[in-house]
Amino acid sequence: MTRQQAMEDIFKARGMNQAKRDQRADGWIGGRADTWTGHYKEVPASRVSADARRMAGDSDYNAKVAESIRSADAAIDDSLAIAGLSIEPLCPSIGVIVHGVDLADPSDAQIDAIRELYLVRKVVFFRDQGHITREEHITFGQHISDTGYAYGRQHSLARRELPNEHPEILRLYASEAHPFAASNWHSDVTWSNRPPLGSILLARKSPPVGGDTVFVDAYALWDALDPVLKRFLEGRTAMHGRGGRNEVTHPICRTHPVTRRKALYVNPTFTNSITGMAPDESARLLSDLYAKMYSTPEYQCRFRWQEGSVAMWDNRSCQHYAVGDFWPHDREMERVTLLDRSADDEIPFWEDADGIRHFGELLTSEEEISKPV
Ligand code: SIN
Repeated sequence: MTRQQAMEDIFKARGMNQAKRDQRADGWIGGRADTWTGHYKEVPASRVSADARRMAGDSDYNAKVAESIRSADAAIDDSLAIAGLSIEPLCPSIGVIVHGVDLADPSDAQIDAIRELYLVRKVVFFRDQGHITREEHITFGQHISDTGYAYGRQHSLARRELPNEHPEILRLYASEAHPFAASNWHSDVTWSNRPPLGSILLARKSPPVGGDTVFVDAYALWDALDPVLKRFLEGRTAMHGRGGRNEVTHPICRTHPVTRRKALYVNPTFTNSITGMAPDESARLLSDLYAKMYSTPEYQCRFRWQEGSVAMWDNRSCQHYAVGDFWPHDREMERVTLLDRSADDEIPFWEDADGIRHFGELLTSEEEISKPV
């Protein structure tokens, strides 16, 4: 089988009438109906790093996976209860609202429990935190990890940001006169060789309707890929940059430095192409990947903002999209950007079966990458 045939097989058109392929003019590959019969178990399996393909034919293994999902959930509830916290999951694999904490004054036990939960659920949310000052917002970030500037390591403000007394806080303010939302799928700052670990976004003012943020589980995206495609992508890199420039390469399959789990690490905002592929092949593969990544609700959760709501996400295990539908209303968000405390873990890598880390390359200079464009 040629590589082209393998790709065509992996990204088959889907739909209830796919048997009559000659009658289908589109190449729709999103959604999950009509995929292989194990697809109902893919996302649950991903939650506990189980093998959904093995589950399809092994009932003992199925029972063990079901049990580990139940006990993982129970263990999380127990450890949170000890810290006086409770949770409200938005969906099974990604996104959970944490109740019972004041981010202005969290206890050590609460910080530890939240940090653990963040690794498992990829994005955690809090309600009613509008009372926290900008200093407390930054201090909470420092409980989780180091904090940076608008773009993480980059020691300058965002291009449109006016100088202010808190350069650690990126203000994402939208109004009738200045509509704005980061309405494109991305993991933050992947044009940098040292992209930030995560963000803590606080809604100072939320629109009466609209302006939700959608998150997608990048572990589940990776886990659900066809094994042939995984073998093809592992160890490969993609070019990323701002404004179509190639500034850096990153592994397409990124290993999380703490959980050691693999995530799909390309996005249509900053990824330009797959390194070493012909432009048309790379474009086709990326658009097939994006169709699958962003059109499958099982991988996603959607958060409805209220004033004082907070989202804290992990850029290494999820991506996000701010829904740009709330004009003419105001939406005023303030973001603290988290940096990895370990310089070794900060640069994205793919870890091979021998535990060797493979990094991408900086294609420009440290000086250029630090300048806003
Ligand atoms: C961001 O992409 O950092 C902001 C997301 C949002 O405004 O919801």
